[in-house]
Amino acid sequence: MGQCCSSGSGGGESGAAEGANKAETPAPQSSDPAQQTEETPATENEQPKESEQSGGAKPVVFVLGASGSIGVATVQSLSSKFAEKVEIRAGVRNPDKADKLKEISGVTIVQASMADKDGLVTTLAGVSSLYIVVPGSENRAELAGLAVDAAKEAGVKHIVSVSVSGADLKDTIFGGQFNEIESKVSGIGIPFTLVRLPYFMDNYLGFASTVKENGQFYAPLSGDKAFTPVTTSDAGVAAATILVDPSKHEGKTYNIVSCRNTMDDIASTLSTLLEKEITFVKVEPSDAKQTFLGFGMPEWQVDGVLELFKLMEEGSPKTNQEDLGDYKNITGEDPTSLKDFLTNFKAAFE
Ligand SMILES: NC(=O)c1ccc[n+]([C@@H]2O[C@H](COP(=O)([O-])OP(=O)(O)OC[C@H]3O[C@@H](n4cnc5c(N)ncnc54)[C@H](OP(=O)(O)O)[C@@H]3O)[C@@H](O)[C@H]2O)c1
Repeated sequence: MGQCCSSGSGGGESGAAEGANKAETPAPQSSDPAQQTEETPATENEQPKESEQSGGAKPVVFVLGASGSIGVATVQSLSSKFAEKVEIRAGVRNPDKADKLKEISGVTIVQASMADKDGLVTTLAGVSSLYIVVPGSENRAELAGLAVDAAKEAGVKHIVSVSVSGADLKDTIFGGQFNEIESKVSGIGIPFTLVRLPYFMDNYLGFASTVKENGQFYAPLSGDKAFTPVTTSDAGVAAATILVDPSKHEGKTYNIVSCRNTMDDIASTLSTLLEKEITFVKVEPSDAKQTFLGFGMPEWQVDGVLELFKLMEEGSPKTNQEDLGDYKNITGEDPTSLKDFLTNFKAAFE
């Protein structure tokens, strides 16, 4: 079925927004840029000086995996809200490709790969709070584990790690991976905070092409099933707030969600905004699988995304959170509503 799924319907785990149909290929260690370059940062940035490491004016916050959607949103929030309080470092594998980060003021971009533990030990020296933005690769538990070990050796004072809402569900693909990551982070002996994230609302932007084409969008889910997603922007604000004052959040596991909605809610909100009828169409998981594979997503990830939609279909409390309060409790602000999110991105659907 050619019209099976909008690209965004596949972004439950792998990539938000227009990146929803982007494949995240696991990077073998030997092909990682970090393995091929010297440990010296590749941009204007320099390794932290000894004086900065031991007693600089501001605590150093380091976002590792900073070039992706969650990393950029977190660095943006650190820069706009907390630049007076902390020194901001953004760790990326290839600083030449970190264009979005270069546009954010007051940020030092540092070459850093989770696959290069020894390099990370050096790079993380002097860091107060580290945010591990776990990548979407199949070996992510291994990569996150190396980053945690490096943080310990480097003397990092607090680790914040990305996790997923279903991390307790060890028998699912994503749950199994993040269960291992959560255990590693919580067991290393450094104060920590776990930030569990659900389906990204930014994935809805992947619906834009068929909404524009024929006024429809597709996913393997009943239109009336409620779920609780998060905007990457809200996820960034929450993480930034935790990173600048981590002791308040020590040992906590948060579920950061923005709102509760259904696919039919998205359709009706878009219909109002665009002043024409937009319809959501449920597709079979088997058809969705073929479509997602056609987008180039690796099969393990497609299967993980389909498990996520199954949880949504079943109304699991992992995908339809009862308590939406963590974001406001952490930030003191209201999270983004569906209407506000779609209004902000209205142009993408026109
Ligand atoms: N999409 C969803 O709905 C959803 C929902 C919940 C959770 N999640 C998960 O949340 C996490 C963050 O999402 P995201 O959208 O920000 O992911 P993303 O865009 O794929 O970004 C991941 C980051 O990891 C970096 N990375 C990859 N391998 C690395 C390595 N070896 N060392 C250092 N950095 C490395 C990438 O940087 P470079 O490639 O530039 O080096 C990128 O900046 C992912 O695990 C994702 O699967 C997604």
